[in-house]
Amino acid sequence: MKVGFYGHVRQYHGIKRQIDSKIAEVLESGEYVMGPMLKRFEKEFADYCGMKHVVGVNSGTDAIWLALIALGIGEGDECITTTNTFFATAEAIWFTGATAVFVDADPRTRCIDPAKIEAAITPRTKAIVPVHLYGQCADMKAIRKIADTHKLRVIEDNAQAIGARGNGFKIGELSDAVCTSFIIQKNLGTFGDGGALVTDNPEIDRIARKLRNHGSEKRAVHSMGYNSRLDDIHAGILSAKLPHIDEWNSQRRTWAQRYTKGLNDARAFTLPCEMPGFYHVFHLYIIETKKAEHRDFLLKHLTDNGIDAKCHYPIAIHQQEGYPWGKKARIVGPIPESQKNAATCISLPMYPELTAEEVDYVIAKTMEWDKVNAQ
Ligand SMILES: Cc1ncc(COP(=O)(O)O)c(C=O)c1O
Repeated sequence: MKVGFYGHVRQYHGIKRQIDSKIAEVLESGEYVMGPMLKRFEKEFADYCGMKHVVGVNSGTDAIWLALIALGIGEGDECITTTNTFFATAEAIWFTGATAVFVDADPRTRCIDPAKIEAAITPRTKAIVPVHLYGQCADMKAIRKIADTHKLRVIEDNAQAIGARGNGFKIGELSDAVCTSFIIQKNLGTFGDGGALVTDNPEIDRIARKLRNHGSEKRAVHSMGYNSRLDDIHAGILSAKLPHIDEWNSQRRTWAQRYTKGLNDARAFTLPCEMPGFYHVFHLYIIETKKAEHRDFLLKHLTDNGIDAKCHYPIAIHQQEGYPWGKKARIVGPIPESQKNAATCISLPMYPELTAEEVDYVIAKTMEWDKVNAQ
């Protein structure tokens, strides 16, 4: 049996008529950039998030740096985040000219460990950028408390957790802005690149809206900005997919529960944990081998058996060749959890369109390896 890592085409076939009709609507409208479909999707997505403003941009990366710039963050400022995230989180901080300050990850969730943040705060610290890694919210209540004490901004990197919730908080409630990616592999993905900045703050909305369009609010009138717009075709595809996101997240949770039940007796690797009261949307289902030297063997065993498993992320940002490329960066304290995460993680196939047979096959092959290697 072959089990793919992504189900993009299956998902397309599942709602082909809705997607095709939205694409046709855009094509027939004659308006493809900053047109009516973008406006419509921004409103639909704001309603879904329960937030006032959505600015559609051309990637999740842009959403983060535009949010930081809209908050006035730049040269001489510092932003705190983690190294065991997708590269773009730090890249967006560096784009602004600010220093990326890295602290360790939580041993259970792999999101930022709030207990490590205060030691990294200096008079130059301006913001915390927590990542809702793998589909589970970071501990936003603890992060908000620290931000209030030290008067810091909070930008949520929500590329991986659309539809997730925390224990008594929702995404966007405890921050200045939420940044989302719509690249195809995300829980809500278009057939290409896309992103959005979501906020209740009208000033952030106004500045980001202007920045994404060459610093323009009015035809032919410009200040310094950039070209980062979500195209109407992508907005149409996302508009067709949005009504399904909760059902898809729920199906991801069903597969996650099936994995967890089937892999529960494993002794050579650990399973992901959902924190009490949190609603994890399992963008990724990550297991971690107990021994770092086991990771590549398990990965090979899975791929040899037709299972397209991957790693998110095997090389932490500070371990990338050439780091930090002349950019300003600081690591505060030892970061053993981030390093362990990078050295031991394996992502099993996870998407709503998997079948029970495929999930069971992945479980069987993973447990087969565990039986031989657990001692
Ligand atoms: C955690 C995280 N942050 C930021 C991004 C950047 O998003 P994009 O690829 O849309 O620029 C991604 C995904 O690609 C991500 O996973």
